[in-house]
Amino acid sequence: MTAAAFTPGDGPRHNQTQSVTVRVPAKVNLALSVGPLRPDGYHDLATVFHAVGLHDEVTATTSDTLALTCEGEGQAEVPLDGVNLAWRAAELLARTVGRTPAVRLHLTKGIPVAGGMAGGSADAAGALVACDALWGTGLSREELHGLAAQLGSDVPFALYGGTAMGTGRGEQITPVLARGEFHWVFAFAHEGLSTPAVFRELDRQRATAKEEVAASGVDEELLRALRAGDSTLLGAALRNDLTRPAVSLRPDLQATLLAGRDAGAIGTLLSGSGPTCAFLATDAVRAATVAAALEAAPSVRAVRRALGPAAGAHVL
Ligand code: C5P
Repeated sequence: MTAAAFTPGDGPRHNQTQSVTVRVPAKVNLALSVGPLRPDGYHDLATVFHAVGLHDEVTATTSDTLALTCEGEGQAEVPLDGVNLAWRAAELLARTVGRTPAVRLHLTKGIPVAGGMAGGSADAAGALVACDALWGTGLSREELHGLAAQLGSDVPFALYGGTAMGTGRGEQITPVLARGEFHWVFAFAHEGLSTPAVFRELDRQRATAKEEVAASGVDEELLRALRAGDSTLLGAALRNDLTRPAVSLRPDLQATLLAGRDAGAIGTLLSGSGPTCAFLATDAVRAATVAAALEAAPSVRAVRRALGPAAGAHVL
């Protein structure tokens, strides 16, 4: 698994430099049903994660100390210290296997920062897999899953990729039967959104409306659409409980969602807690039409097209 890249003359001869690069996908939640607030501050969720072909890469290289660098999409907003989940992933893995986290991590970002596509979680999953390969820890997949869940609710799914149900706070993963390939268009916003702020706004709206919060659950139509590989059925079944609070915090998201629908998307969706908006098209040609319309929308900073499902974290 390890890609060794030692070049003589790269440093002291007895200290070989080794490097591992891992590719990790972004995700959208095809369904995101948010249940009651739990005593630990998280919400009970039922979600269907779907990995898409927008990627970050995490390169781990042997080093004397822990260090983190970053390039690409949103690099100026990426913290390069212990706030970063990739840094914390290297520390957690090192602590678990009883070694020092002597590794240089480099992130090459294609996933928007604070975009609701779990880019930070993907980097954490990438760092876990890269350091695991670099250090030859011998941990099982279940043990890596356990560490991923400690790092964040979305980190375990980034290890698996594909299409999967997430329950608990999102960290319990069950595979979902899905057929075929789906054509997605993503509209990135000018500014990120804070996930805790969107969940807080949901709680505020529910309290104001004196809503009784139902247990979280995923509609059978969505699972049927995935089993059939039917993009039209899937487009009609997309659902995200965080849409209303995200749009109330950022009203211009409504304009983005409408622009994609008007351009012929068969499904429109806020990605996770936003602000990225996701659009489903029936085929590549229609996806190109939707993308072109979104490029012209003032509320949109950048547009990307991708296929789903995509593979989980893997060594290149
Ligand atoms: O687990 P993670 O750190 O990614 O979650 C970020 C934040 O999102 C949490 O601190 C919480 O405010 C919110 N969240 C939630 N319920 C979940 C997942 C996340 O309220 N199931």
